[in-house]
Amino acid sequence: MTDNNSAWNPDEDYQYPLIMSGAGPFKYPDREDVDSVLPFVDLAVVGSITKLPRKGNTPLHEKARLEYFEDPAYTINVHGMPNEGMHAIGPPRSPKLIISLAEFSVDGFVEIYEHFAEWGAGTELNFGCPNTTEGIWCRKPESMDAVLSQITPRSGLTGVKLSPFLEEEYSLLQEGLAVIKQHSSKISYVVATNTLPGQTVTLSDGSSAVETVEMGTQGGLGGEAIKELALENATVCCQELGGDVGVLLCGGVSSGKDLIKGLDVGCVGVQVVSAFLQQGPRVFKKIREEYLRSLLA
Ligand SMILES: Cc1cc2nc3c(=O)[nH]c(=O)nc-3n(C[C@H](O)[C@H](O)[C@H](O)COP(=O)(O)O)c2cc1C
Repeated sequence: MTDNNSAWNPDEDYQYPLIMSGAGPFKYPDREDVDSVLPFVDLAVVGSITKLPRKGNTPLHEKARLEYFEDPAYTINVHGMPNEGMHAIGPPRSPKLIISLAEFSVDGFVEIYEHFAEWGAGTELNFGCPNTTEGIWCRKPESMDAVLSQITPRSGLTGVKLSPFLEEEYSLLQEGLAVIKQHSSKISYVVATNTLPGQTVTLSDGSSAVETVEMGTQGGLGGEAIKELALENATVCCQELGGDVGVLLCGGVSSGKDLIKGLDVGCVGVQVVSAFLQQGPRVFKKIREEYLRSLLA
C-alpha cells in the first residue's frame, strides 16, 4: 500500500509557501485557457467534474445570472457544477493540474476517483459543493467515511474539500475531521473551504445577484466576505488534524497578509479563486511577492 501522505512535502516539492488556483474557473484541463494561470501557481485545480454530463442549474429568467464577481467584497455563484462528464476529460496539459471530482453517492465517488487514478498531479474530492439540490457531502461524516474507506491509495495527491461550518456547527466539523484523520494515509490535504451556502445578495437595482429555478435567489458566497470564516475553519482543521494531513486555506485570500495568516494557524498553503476571477492571474504573483517582502520587513 502506498502511503501517499508521506510523499506530500509542500515545503520541498514546491516554491514555499504553496499557492494554488482553486477549483471553479477552469473545467477543461486539456484546453488552452488553463495556460493563463500555470506560470503563476504551484498547482491548479480544474473542475468539479462528475461521472455523467451535468447541465447544472437553470437561470430563472432570461437575464438571470449564475455568478457575480463585480463587487470586490464578495463573489456569489450558483452554477451547480455543469460539466461534460468524466469521459469528456482529456489528459492534463500540465503535470501541475489536479482534477476536482464531485458525486452524489458512495459508489459514484469511488468510481470517479478510480477513473482518474493516474491523472496529473492528483485529485481533489469536492465534499463541499453547496449549490446543488443533492446536499453537501461533508455534512455527513459517515458518508465521507464510506468513500474514504473504499478508495485505493495512490501515488498522486488526494485532496478533500470541505464546505464552511459555522461556529455552532464545529462539533460536526470535528466529527468529519476525525474521519479524515483516520484515513490520513490516503489523504494529502484538506481544503477549507468551499463557498458559504444559501446566501442571497441583493444588488443596488433591487435584483438578486444570482437566480435559478433550483436554488431561487440563493448561491454560494466567496471572496472577502468569507475570509474570517474560512480562516476559522482552517484553524479548526489544523488543530484537529495535528499535522497528519496538510491544510490549505481557501476563502478570501487575495494578499500576502492573508497567506501569512493561513500559515500562522498552521496551513501549508492557500488556494485562491475569487481574487483570481476579480483580478486575473497576476494576483498569484502579487500574493507571493507581498509574502516575500513581508519576510524582509
Ligand atoms: C464561479 C465559481 C465556481 C466555483 N466552482 C467550484 C467547483 O466547481 N468546485 C469546487 O470545489 N469549488 C468551486 N468554487 C469554490 C471555490 O473553489 C472556493 O472554494 C471558494 O470560492 C472560496 O474561495 P475564494 O474566496 O478564493 O473564492 C467555485 C467558486 C466560484 C466563485
